[in-house]
Order: sequence, then C-alpha cells, then structure tokens
Amino acid sequence: MHPATGTLHDGDGEDPSSSGTDWPRRTAVVGPGYMGTGFVQLLALAGLPVAIGDVSQEAAEAARSRAIEGAGAFALAGMMPSDAADRVARHTVAAASIGDASTGADVIFEAVPESPALKASVLASIEAAAPTGALIATNTSAIPIAELSAPLTHPDRFLGAHWFNPSQWVPCVELIAGPSTDPAHLETMAALLERLGKRPSVVGDGPGFVANRIQFAMFKEAATIVEEGVATAEVIDEVVRASFGFRLPFFGPFTIADMAGLDVYAGAYGSLEAGLGSRMAVPEAVATRVAEGRLGMKTGGGFLELDGADAAAMASWRDEAYVAMERLLGDLGPWDAKSTSAASPPPSDAEPAPGAALIPDQTDRPR
Ligand SMILES: NC(=O)c1ccc[n+]([C@@H]2O[C@H](COP(=O)([O-])OP(=O)(O)OC[C@H]3O[C@@H](n4cnc5c(N)ncnc54)[C@H](O)[C@@H]3O)[C@@H](O)[C@H]2O)c1
Repeated sequence: MHPATGTLHDGDGEDPSSSGTDWPRRTAVVGPGYMGTGFVQLLALAGLPVAIGDVSQEAAEAARSRAIEGAGAFALAGMMPSDAADRVARHTVAAASIGDASTGADVIFEAVPESPALKASVLASIEAAAPTGALIATNTSAIPIAELSAPLTHPDRFLGAHWFNPSQWVPCVELIAGPSTDPAHLETMAALLERLGKRPSVVGDGPGFVANRIQFAMFKEAATIVEEGVATAEVIDEVVRASFGFRLPFFGPFTIADMAGLDVYAGAYGSLEAGLGSRMAVPEAVATRVAEGRLGMKTGGGFLELDGADAAAMASWRDEAYVAMERLLGDLGPWDAKSTSAASPPPSDAEPAPGAALIPDQTDRPR
C-alpha cells in the first residue's frame, strides 16, 4: 500500500543513466493531466523526486494514484520496468498547492490547460515559490514562449519544453527559448530529457514551433482533399501510412528530397502549381538549389551534404529498414477498433487507457 500523499527524499541515484550528476535533486510537475502524468512517471522512473501540483491536494493525490496505477499497467504490458508502480510511488508526493510543489524544486514542468491567462497565473505562482535557480518549462502547444515569459520576474530561467502525446513514448521534445532565456538552460534541460529517454531538439519560437506547423499544414491539405472529394478520410489515412508516412520514421523530409532529387521535386511542384495555384509553387529554397546544380545526392548534396558513397550505404540500410518496418507492422497486426477498450477516446482531462499508447493514434490528439 502506498501512502496517500507520498514522502519526498532527494534523488537516490538509482537510475544508472544519471551518470553521477546530483542535479536535479527535486522536480515538480504542475498540471498532471493527459501529458503531465507521463512526465511524472518518467521522472520518477529515473529516480528523481517529483512533487505533483494541481488545483488542490485532492486533485494532486488523484493524479499521483493515476500515475502509479498507469505505471503498474504499463509494467504488466512489458512497457515499463516490472517495479514501475513502486518506483513511481516511492519518488512522488502530492503537494497541497502549486506553491508547495514548486518550493525546493530544481526544475518545474508546467502542463496546465492551453489558456494564456491560466498559464500566466500558474507560472506566476510557480515563480513566486520556486528557488531562484530553478528551471521552469512550459508544455504549451502553441502559445509563443515570448508571450508567456513577458510577465515573469526571472525570464532567463524560463523555456518551452513541448512534449508529444503520449508523453511516455513519443521521443521528441521541442525546446524553445524565450527572448531572455539563458542558452545554458536549454543544454541543461536537453541533458535531463535525454536521461528520461527523450530526443530533444532546440527550435525557434514561432507559431506551432516546428512539428505542429508541419503536421497542421499536412492535415489542412488532407482535409481539403476530403472536401474536394478526391479521396475519403479512410483512404487518405491508408495512403499516407503506406507511402511517405512509411518512410518517415527513418528519414525526414530533407533527406527524402535529397534522395529523390530536387529537380524531380521542382518538376512536381510545376504540375501542382498549374493545377492548385501559387500556394503550390516551387519553394524558393528548392528553385535556388536546382539553379545552382545542387540536386541532391546525385550531385553531392542538395539541402544536406550527401555524396554518392553515402547514397550506396544509405540505400542498403534503407531497404533493410523498410523490410523490418513492414515485418513489425505485420507482427503488430492491424488496429481493430472492435477489439480494444481504447476504441472511444478518453475525455480531454483523463489518463489514456492503460496500454492505449500501443494502439495507433485514435486516442491521440494531434499536437
Ligand atoms: N494532450 C496533448 O495531446 C498535448 C500534446 C502536447 C502538448 N499539450 C499541452 O500540454 C498542456 C496540458 O494539456 P493536457 O492535454 O495534458 O491537459 P489536461 O486537461 O489533460 O491536464 C491539465 C492538468 O492541469 C490541471 N490544472 C488545471 N488547472 C490548474 C491550475 N489552475 N493549477 C494547477 N493545475 C491545474 C488539471 O487538473 C489537469 O491535471 C497544454 O498546454 C496542451 O496544449 C497537450
């Protein structure tokens, strides 16, 4: 039986990846909902003490119980270590308030709902209680970091750390500096996230940062194709999954473009522009490279520096990777809405069903 609120001790260094560092000694998660629960679990599994702050002590206690139970279910499914529930229980405490959670924390992750006014008020409470040296990271999906940092007293230690859903499993975390953020803090945060098994990337403070800007551009085009009657939503999902989506776990858009040839891309944009208008005109960055003869791998590089020798090795690795991917998809089998309890998306403030993260993304909100 785990104590209702938990007791926090400084980091016990049980995680071998902690590599001798004693920072952070304590952490806090304020807003332990859909996203924050994953932060709690990963921090605790790394042996780091986590204080959980929510609207009340009762809400924080309920969130702590969900994190412990969720970790237990993930452990049963073989997705977390077998003692995950115990470890989450041992390293977490339900705080009485946001201030209590933040007091004494070296790093605080904020994940309250996406309202500028709510985030501003919660961040002010965090800042008032946190030690001056503490890092404060917001998980905002779209509010500019500059806007959230403007009212802060110490904006130098504030940054965006934008995780993806489900936060336990998706590797990327976008790190975003505000206008006053100390660049050293981005490195410190990146190192912490790597300890949690994440693959952080530093990006600029623009609308939608990087991932959401690309994802939403793609989704807008997909929705337009449905509106035009060119294909149904079901057909588009299948086409994307089985075509360029099939390649994306291995190669990003620039590697794929350099492999295909920028001249090929320029030609395709010509046809797209003729049919769909100037929004589909060849991007300037492509046209310039084509004019300079930088066509991609076949000419020693386009956007990336990739020569013919790279091309041969990459093609052979790519072929192996694609065969392995097709095998993995076959082993997992198709997602069948009728055979799983995760068929209905959870309400927006609920923990995903245990094991739901294994199931392609009907329960995932695209942020
Ligand atoms: N859900 C996603 O797919 C996703 C993905 C990436 C980023 N985000 C971002 O993460 C943030 C949280 O989203 P979510 O989906 O986890 O939200 P959620 O509604 O599931 O969880 C929010 C949590 O904040 C708590 N909370 C609400 N008001 C509070 C207050 N005043 N003080 C303290 N805690 C309070 C709630 O009780 C809950 O625990 C948002 O900024 C969202 O845009 C969400």
